Amino acid sequence: MLTEIKQIAEELMPRLKEIRRHLHSHPELSGQEHLTAIFVAGVLSSYELHVQENVGKTGLFGELQGQGTDSRQLAIRVDMDALPIHEQTGLEFASKVPGVMHACGHDVHTTVGLGTAMVLSHLKEQIPGNVRFIFQPAEEIGQGAMWMIKNKALENVSAILSLHVFPTIPAGSVGIRYGSLTASLDSVEITIIGQAADAGNPKQGVDAIWVASQVIISLQQAISRMQDPQRPVVLTIGKIRGGYNSNTIADRVKLVGTARTLHPEVRARLAEWVEQVVAGVCHAYGAEYELHYHHSMPSVVNYPELTQLLERAATEALGNDYVQVLPDPSLGSEDFAEYLNYVPGAMFRLGVGYKDKYNYPLHHPKFDVDETSILAGVMTLAYSVCQYFQGKHI
Ligand code: NI
Repeated sequence: MLTEIKQIAEELMPRLKEIRRHLHSHPELSGQEHLTAIFVAGVLSSYELHVQENVGKTGLFGELQGQGTDSRQLAIRVDMDALPIHEQTGLEFASKVPGVMHACGHDVHTTVGLGTAMVLSHLKEQIPGNVRFIFQPAEEIGQGAMWMIKNKALENVSAILSLHVFPTIPAGSVGIRYGSLTASLDSVEITIIGQAADAGNPKQGVDAIWVASQVIISLQQAISRMQDPQRPVVLTIGKIRGGYNSNTIADRVKLVGTARTLHPEVRARLAEWVEQVVAGVCHAYGAEYELHYHHSMPSVVNYPELTQLLERAATEALGNDYVQVLPDPSLGSEDFAEYLNYVPGAMFRLGVGYKDKYNYPLHHPKFDVDETSILAGVMTLAYSVCQYFQGKHI
């Protein structure tokens, strides 16, 4: 079966490159993936998949009906949205939409999802169960997965697999990670409330800008002294707003940021800990505060047996030298985590790096991929599907 997968995937590569370039030229922002969804639906229908559109707002899924008696259904999930970034790659198929770019490789994910569906549609007599290809919108704003789940995209799904491109792994290789792959993401909004006064007489007021700066410094220093360095916490204040003019003591400053962690128990205690630090600093300097802490996204924790499935399938499909077992998770986040609250699943990293060319990081205006990676993605996923139905446990 692997030989057939390889042959069909290789024959499809020119078409898949075309698809990826089309998607890359026509990026759409989160929640606005209308044309992408129509395009994807068209390709899936032409391969006789049963397509359900308008699932999860601008998402959709296609179903490949296997020809056997296995009642399990395996889902493959990819995301379709682009970022509000102005592309600077200079590629001939660069974004035609000013200020919008596929800088996170979701064009590659969508292409790999389609490629896998195309390959498996040729082999469906040999697949005993159903495969659902989920094309999710709005990953970049961390909402698309929940939209899909609420619209029953996981109904009757037994397990789910996914991928994300990774520029530091060379194209042709994949990265597998047991356990946590990405961090949880929570948002924090702190308002420091002081008291206005004339700039020449700060003692008469409470300087919210100064207190805010103490809050930021205390939080960063306290992480190194009070959090376990083996269980990382990254707290970033990404936005500050406050004050009126040069000669007034500001009475209000708003700090907005995110917190990332890898361990659920650290995450569970973090909101309270942040509040303790903020409250302590504010109390010392006579300010008040308001704090809103919002749990946005859990960590992607790969299910062991499905991670092993991906590792074995990739090793057979690509060869030993093209599979890396990753020692560390990333502190980025990924809303694939939401699906894992409902069904077991695993995600792998698809190498898209050039061998001898510097590659820019994800979300960079010059981010680009080596398109030969598409073949490794399709082969890994298509063969994982076949191997999944060979096993019986999940
Ligand atoms: Ni992404």
